[in-house]
Amino acid sequence: MTSPTTSAKTANAPDSFFTATLAEADPEIAAAIKGELGRQRHEIELIASENIVSRAVLEAQGSVMTNKYAEGYPGARYYGGCEWVDVAETLAIERAKKLFGAAFANVQPNSGSQMNQAVFLALLQPGATFMGLDLAAGGSAYSRAWDFKRFREIADHVGAYLMVDMAHFAGLVAGGAHASPVPHAHVTTTTTHKSLRGPRGGLMLWNDETLTKKFNSAIFPGLQGGPLMHIIAAKVVAFAEALRPDFKIYAKNVVENAKALALRAQGLDIVSGGTDNHLMLVDLRPKGLKGNVSEKAPGARRDHLQQERHSVRSRNAVRDVRFAPGHAGGNHARFRRRRIPAGRRHDRRSSQRAGAIARWQGAAGGSRHQGAGEGDDRQLPDLSVGLAPDEFPIASQLIQRTPTRP
Ligand SMILES: Cc1ncc(COP(=O)(O)O)c(C=O)c1O
Repeated sequence: MTSPTTSAKTANAPDSFFTATLAEADPEIAAAIKGELGRQRHEIELIASENIVSRAVLEAQGSVMTNKYAEGYPGARYYGGCEWVDVAETLAIERAKKLFGAAFANVQPNSGSQMNQAVFLALLQPGATFMGLDLAAGGSAYSRAWDFKRFREIADHVGAYLMVDMAHFAGLVAGGAHASPVPHAHVTTTTTHKSLRGPRGGLMLWNDETLTKKFNSAIFPGLQGGPLMHIIAAKVVAFAEALRPDFKIYAKNVVENAKALALRAQGLDIVSGGTDNHLMLVDLRPKGLKGNVSEKAPGARRDHLQQERHSVRSRNAVRDVRFAPGHAGGNHARFRRRRIPAGRRHDRRSSQRAGAIARWQGAAGGSRHQGAGEGDDRQLPDLSVGLAPDEFPIASQLIQRTPTRP
């Protein structure tokens, strides 16, 4: 038998179930999300693979498109009722093609890992040989320009396919601040959530029609089932944002700021002496430090009001060194708040949101359990980006105005 209380709740359930706010329906996760928003607002994000999406991207991502099953591709689905998700996916494909100048696009990959698996599934037979950059050899932390034409010539010479994963610098390519691999590679893959500033997900681009069926079949039904239509809707929005003229300014500023940051990081050993893109590798071995310790550097922790500001970065391998990535190594870092050059201190929102990306590289010496950690009192390098005192208020204002949305 149901108690009167339970019956009353059940009777009310249909009303509140669909209409309650998150805070009403689930205060625990609402509090965690609020906490994360606060963290994003108050910490300096130095992680190269992260970004801040617009309200419009968040809205599309949180939309009713999450309810829809749409296995297949536009016009050829295994489910009825796909007319609106077809509109969304067709828009995403068309905008992605326009943005990157590609003949074909697949916008369904749920993640960067899956888009890359799809290429392997489509192009390689079991036991086939493939070659790529080892992480320790700069794999996804290469801060210099790539010569894609030359890579293609070499691939053609040896009879190989050339695949470029441009996940990190895709936003720079979209904004015209980086050479594009799309005309040269047999297939270009990218995540949509890094410098491209979209929702989490993947994208595949190619120009040869004979590869179309291979790639599409590798994604569905090869690796995935129903596409994440709400994410695809958000990709539509992000691609449109990247097609806007101000995205070019954003991309240009990202590169300029990374170069400026590299110049200002005096006393640190920047691998290759600087950067041509949005990231840099800082080898902390000469400082006898690991990446996780550098996050606690005092210079990166206080604003002009002496409030504590943490900076967050990820950790990566440095060449010739093996280490446990979760424990130490380098930091993979992005400096999102833009330093405004003199004379341009009243720039608009697009430039406020520009950033530079840095990759801080740590030493790998010592065992996993002997590395410096909490409470380590070895001398830390000053990782401040070197803001002059009169720049603190400006930076603080920008931080407050940066639209990090709930
Ligand atoms: C170059 C590159 N490709 C792919 C991925 C994997 O993407 P995802 O985390 O969406 O699986 C990453 C992750 O950082 C990356 O840096």
